[in-house]
Amino acid sequence: MSIGNNIQLAIELLNSNKLVAIPTETVYGLAANAFNESAVLSIYKTKNRPQFNPLIIHSNSIERFEQWGLQIPKQVKLLANKFWPGPLTFIIPANNKVPDIVTAGTGAVAIRVPNHPVTLSLLEQLSFPLAAPSANPSGFISPTSAQHVENQLGDKIDYILDGGVCQVGVESTIISFLENEPKILRFGGLAIEEIEEVLGHRLITNITSNKIVAPGMLTKHYAPNHPLFLVDDIFKATEGKDMNRVGVITFYQSVNDIPEANQFVLSKSKDLNEAASKLFAVMRNIDELDIDEIYAEKFPNTGLGYAINDRLKRASIQE
Ligand code: TXA
Ligand code: MG
Repeated sequence: MSIGNNIQLAIELLNSNKLVAIPTETVYGLAANAFNESAVLSIYKTKNRPQFNPLIIHSNSIERFEQWGLQIPKQVKLLANKFWPGPLTFIIPANNKVPDIVTAGTGAVAIRVPNHPVTLSLLEQLSFPLAAPSANPSGFISPTSAQHVENQLGDKIDYILDGGVCQVGVESTIISFLENEPKILRFGGLAIEEIEEVLGHRLITNITSNKIVAPGMLTKHYAPNHPLFLVDDIFKATEGKDMNRVGVITFYQSVNDIPEANQFVLSKSKDLNEAASKLFAVMRNIDELDIDEIYAEKFPNTGLGYAINDRLKRASIQE
């Protein structure tokens, strides 16, 4: 295994049905030829991912998905024209070109054009789409740098294509178009408000912390080693604690008395996009500290705040 920026090598490996970790604007993906069953099977094995959890397929344009025979609904085209390449994934009916192992036998496929120059160039030069879940072992935090991939899966994959640190930092927003009404399946890197504005109406969701909506949105996820508590009031929650033994994740303010090294402020300027881009790296760093527990404050429920709260909730101890 090695890390590098050799697109030609990545192409050769993918053409011979090997796995390559690829950069995207959201998180790194663990990619293989989506049309080759055994290549896709090795993604599941490498991640230790249950096979009931389907994969997103990636290419460089909406036209290519159409060339592979997928029927793209009108509203999907409208949104794709506005937001692709970008952090938005659509669930649409699959066809028989897409193997069951990709769709987990659901008859539906997730499609996305990611916004990263290296990966767009790679996708353009391939004759197939790439199936790519986040490049982390199933149940752990998604990687936002090549080094994160190396740390967690380095010995198991042939090549990590390095595209720097992911700019968005949380996984794509997922919208299902299988029913009459489009439905949010995952809060992610594109704000729901922006999507609603283009569609001209509100979107429905039934995402709750206790329910699996997208099959892979397992309730317990992003598991840190230390217990993490998601709280309304970070000051109250940490009151009376041994301040040397707690770590805190906050939006813009710091908590007096807690040592600097144990404090992770995600955006001093109250920018939710900046906060989202730092979230996963911070969740990794805070977990390395010699502490007993982690407290994270709830973020505002607007823009990328939904995605941040969702990931923190899944990482947290839930009472
Ligand atoms: O930003 C992203 O979406 C990243 C990058 C690499 O593109 N990928 C990613 O993939 O987050 P993954 O596999 O970690 O998460 C994909 C989610 C899972 O929760 C899965 O269950 C859901 O999408 N999904 C995939 N195909 C689906 C389908 N046919 N029906 C319903 N949910 C689907
Ligand atoms: Mg994932």
